[in-house]
Amino acid sequence: MGETHQLGSLGSKLHAALASREARSIRRRLPEPTVLGKQSLIDFTSNDYLSLSTNPLLRARFLQKITEPERGQVLGSTGSRLLVNPVAHDRLERRMEAVFTRPGPRKHDDMPQVGLLFNSGFDANVAFYTCIPQSGDVVILDEYIHASVWDGVRASRVEQDCIKTFEHNSIESLCFVIDSLSNTVVERLQTGTSSLFIAVESLYSMDGTLSPLREINSLLSKLFPKNSYLIVDEAHATGIYGPPGRPGCGRVSQLGLDDCRVLARLHTFGKALAGSGAILLTTPLLTSYLINYARPLIYTTALAHPNVILVEAAFDLMVDGETDKLSTHLLALSSYLISLLQTRLNEAGIPPEIISLPPHFLPISTTLPSFDRVRVCLHSGNTREDVEALVSGAVEWARTWAGESKPKDSGRETTRSQQSRTRL
Ligand SMILES: Cc1ncc(COP(=O)(O)O)c(C=O)c1O
Repeated sequence: MGETHQLGSLGSKLHAALASREARSIRRRLPEPTVLGKQSLIDFTSNDYLSLSTNPLLRARFLQKITEPERGQVLGSTGSRLLVNPVAHDRLERRMEAVFTRPGPRKHDDMPQVGLLFNSGFDANVAFYTCIPQSGDVVILDEYIHASVWDGVRASRVEQDCIKTFEHNSIESLCFVIDSLSNTVVERLQTGTSSLFIAVESLYSMDGTLSPLREINSLLSKLFPKNSYLIVDEAHATGIYGPPGRPGCGRVSQLGLDDCRVLARLHTFGKALAGSGAILLTTPLLTSYLINYARPLIYTTALAHPNVILVEAAFDLMVDGETDKLSTHLLALSSYLISLLQTRLNEAGIPPEIISLPPHFLPISTTLPSFDRVRVCLHSGNTREDVEALVSGAVEWARTWAGESKPKDSGRETTRSQQSRTRL
């Protein structure tokens, strides 16, 4: 007897849902395991943006740190953050505060920011949005915001009619959404009895777009100077973007917005920094509140010590400037991909709407189509040859799609480029 049958109506319902996904070609499956170290496909998919997960220097620093006698040779963290000796976690938090916060006095009401570790960025977002916005407050989300923010907001005390979305990165749409709030809600915001939260990511991974943080910040300062806040998820910018002298600290720092109305910033360790976990930088009051009420912090085992040490080692590389050349190479590869793709598409006479590129890379603004996308992530470990192979594959695909010709037999291409074409 099959499992679906054994599970009766539950089995039928679950099976029907999966079959529906299958029919729409959106059924998710775990990737096939491949032997580590023998990976022959080029990495255009992972979030290991700086390719640190295989970086020998990071490995060496990690191994050296983990054997230092002062670490106490502890492996697991042994319990919830509220119960265990916090020496490793506390040390990382204090260090993160120093790394991410601009030195010198703050301008905006002189509010300091402290760091609080979470086991993942997902947990941190769920914790923040579930706990911080209160009944009567308004939360407006960019329509492309991460699923974890949605989960948090949905579980929060904020009333349904006070949860809104605005069109991705559109200030016009944000203004429209604010304008369309009911008079009662606007009155609460104007009198300061409620607060307004705008939830954005500094860099969106699906389309590679950058949030107009400065413009949102100015708008909020104009409309509700005392009680509107910007909450910025820097998951994809961490380790890559940052001001001179503090590379990798994110877009908020790069744009000099650290001391404006950015009430909270999230930096995750699972992408460019090759670890896992996250740090939320926010005010001491909010941090205390989260320590008291955030279920994803209270009711879970804290980050294991090797994880904390790995993140420290990754930050060593960042602070010592070792990751500078990696992120510079990555950004150069990204420009190379864009210009090469544009040139090759033009040469092949392929209509521009077949392949969309992030608008901030384009001289003219292109509206991205809303159908499914193939996401390409570049990494510091990629080469210009990898990018050229990717572009060849993309152009061939576009040609087929445009119905202009069948893909040419490129028998002289290398195995690596054939593999990358398959991935596309
Ligand atoms: C924008 C954004 N925020 C948060 C997360 C969750 O971070 P983590 O992987 O550390 O749970 C992700 C991960 O995909 C993300 O892309």
